[in-house]
Amino acid sequence: MKPVRKAVFPVAGLGTRFLPATKAFAKEMLPVVDKPLIQYAMDEAREAGIEQMIFVTGRGKSALEDYFDIAYELETTMRERGKSLDPLEPTRLPPGAVASVRQQEPLGLGHAVWCARDIVGDEPFAVLLPDDLMWGKPGCLAQMVAAYEKVGGNIICAQDVPREKTSSYGIITPGAVDGPLTEVKGLVEKPKPEVAPSTLGVVGRYILQPEVMRILDTQEKGAGGEIQLTDAMAALIGQQPFHGLIVDAVRYDCGDKAGYIQANLALA
Ligand code: UTP
Repeated sequence: MKPVRKAVFPVAGLGTRFLPATKAFAKEMLPVVDKPLIQYAMDEAREAGIEQMIFVTGRGKSALEDYFDIAYELETTMRERGKSLDPLEPTRLPPGAVASVRQQEPLGLGHAVWCARDIVGDEPFAVLLPDDLMWGKPGCLAQMVAAYEKVGGNIICAQDVPREKTSSYGIITPGAVDGPLTEVKGLVEKPKPEVAPSTLGVVGRYILQPEVMRILDTQEKGAGGEIQLTDAMAALIGQQPFHGLIVDAVRYDCGDKAGYIQANLALA
């Protein structure tokens, strides 16, 4: 079984729910207390043993790449004034640890992941949506990697969601249950509550096999006119092991104003 060494961070969405705040920068740069959302996801990935971080960015998102670079002017000025550089420590990554590709048009999450296909290559990879802030110890992705080392294949992070909210999530058709792991028999993107196969929703962490990229090569637009990752993952079911993992972590949906405020209050 190949280890999970690479992680894709799709950060090319329009972030319309946070306009005008996100007009000129990525919503993943919004701070929760004193760190931007992307830093929480990055820390979680590093804790899980990820070595290569792949950003899928869009226009106006260059602040994200600068954030993980050296800030000579700032650091020199701080040094001259005798200020500690410790707060900048989490933004330093080993040389070559960050790669980025452009998603020229925000055609959906599936399309964003597909844009990273050549950097991902022929190995399993993680996907982290930084606007889902997962607060747990060990971190959410570390828990998923531990499960992956037992069962292999594809693992998606699952959470029980209120039935009236199923149309906001990818929903799992569950199979055999083994503790926190549920076999995934099917996946439906944003079903109405009355037709949802369960209340087990997919949240923004995935461990996927590279074959999903071959499916995305020819993927048509799905729900909302976007190229959906859920549809491509659904095509892998039955061909490879596929599990949902209920992680021991709190999720804050920071793509939504109420969730973002909640995260700030809780973490403060
Ligand atoms: P969202 O569904 O939250 O969409 O994307 P969004 O455009 O970012 O935000 P709203 O709904 O307009 O407010 C989930 C994740 O997928 C990424 C986003 O950046 C976010 O991390 N994404 C989405 C892309 O990278 N490209 C896309 O085409 C769509």
